[in-house]
Amino acid sequence: MAEVALEVRNLVKRFGSFTAVNDVSFTVERGEVVGYLGPNGSGKTTTIRMLLGLLQPTSGSAVILGHDIGKDPEWVRRNAGYMSQKFALYEDLTVAENLRFYGGVYGIPRGRLGVRVDAMLDLVGIRGHRDERAGSLAGGWRQRLAMAIALVHEPPLLFLDEPTSGVDPEARRAFWDIIYALADEGTTVFVTTHYMDEAEHCGRLGVMSRGRLLAMDSPTRLKAAVPGDPWNIEVGEGASPVVLIERLEAIEGVTHAGLLGDRVHVITASGAHTPASLASALDGSGTRVPSSAIEAAEATLEDVFTVLTGGQPATTNGEAAA
Ligand SMILES: Nc1ncnc2c1ncn2[C@@H]1O[C@H](COP(=O)(O)OP(=O)(O)OP(=O)(O)O)[C@@H](O)[C@H]1O
Ligand SMILES: [Mg+2]
Repeated sequence: MAEVALEVRNLVKRFGSFTAVNDVSFTVERGEVVGYLGPNGSGKTTTIRMLLGLLQPTSGSAVILGHDIGKDPEWVRRNAGYMSQKFALYEDLTVAENLRFYGGVYGIPRGRLGVRVDAMLDLVGIRGHRDERAGSLAGGWRQRLAMAIALVHEPPLLFLDEPTSGVDPEARRAFWDIIYALADEGTTVFVTTHYMDEAEHCGRLGVMSRGRLLAMDSPTRLKAAVPGDPWNIEVGEGASPVVLIERLEAIEGVTHAGLLGDRVHVITASGAHTPASLASALDGSGTRVPSSAIEAAEATLEDVFTVLTGGQPATTNGEAAA
């Protein structure tokens, strides 16, 4: 049987009368890469801070690698890596000095510090910047250094809170290569994100909204569970996707229509439409789209979010946002 890295049971955090994390339960196995997707204010950081023993849960419990966060917070802090959303670097220290400093804080013996710093410089590919002051590093390199710091003490469990926010897509891919390499070696990774493309990379994905964990499963299974038939429509030259979406939304049997890149993504009730029937319904409303421009598609994670939340977009959390 697979080894359990993280077991979370009915975790609740209330701030006054506001419930930031509402009865969250899940289990993560060793070596899994689990994503946590949710809009601003949905409770992602609050969950992580409780799991790290940095914030006292209102109720509920969690066990990390056999250690209860309530009974053994010190063990948890020493054995988990944490790249926080607002990580702090010592701006006047160089890359290597930051790593040495944090390595010392984590209790790495002096004799081993050099080896670990070296290994981290290579792991995140920042060796070329080792003597640069952290304060002068560009965004993507700062994130890499922060990740290296979270890993310097070889934690078996790593929490990454939006590690790639503000990082360009190429640098994001490099981050994910590192995450996979760590997972291959048995590190368990729990990572929050706002990016749908990134969420696709996770072995399993938890979907958070307003403090609740609505689902946790592989991206493929989450998408397969979206009810209805998804289609992508090529928008003709000179045509307005906005108008097309409006017209689609007015057609019976259409449950959702929105932009997906340069195409329009539509979901229709199961069996309600074919490309020909959609094209004909559009034609009736004065929009000519050839049925050859309408292709059967896959549901997206955006669809998953919309269905699970009953229509809430993935990017905001309504009144729950700060
Ligand atoms: N110390 C606190 N006191 C009061 N409210 C708080 C506190 N910490 C967080 N909250 C509230 O709890 C909710 C969840 O916050 P949290 O930071 O966990 O969200 P998040 O999902 O990490 O959001 P983001 O994507 O913006 O990082 C928010 O509405 C936030 O304002
Ligand atoms: Mg957060």
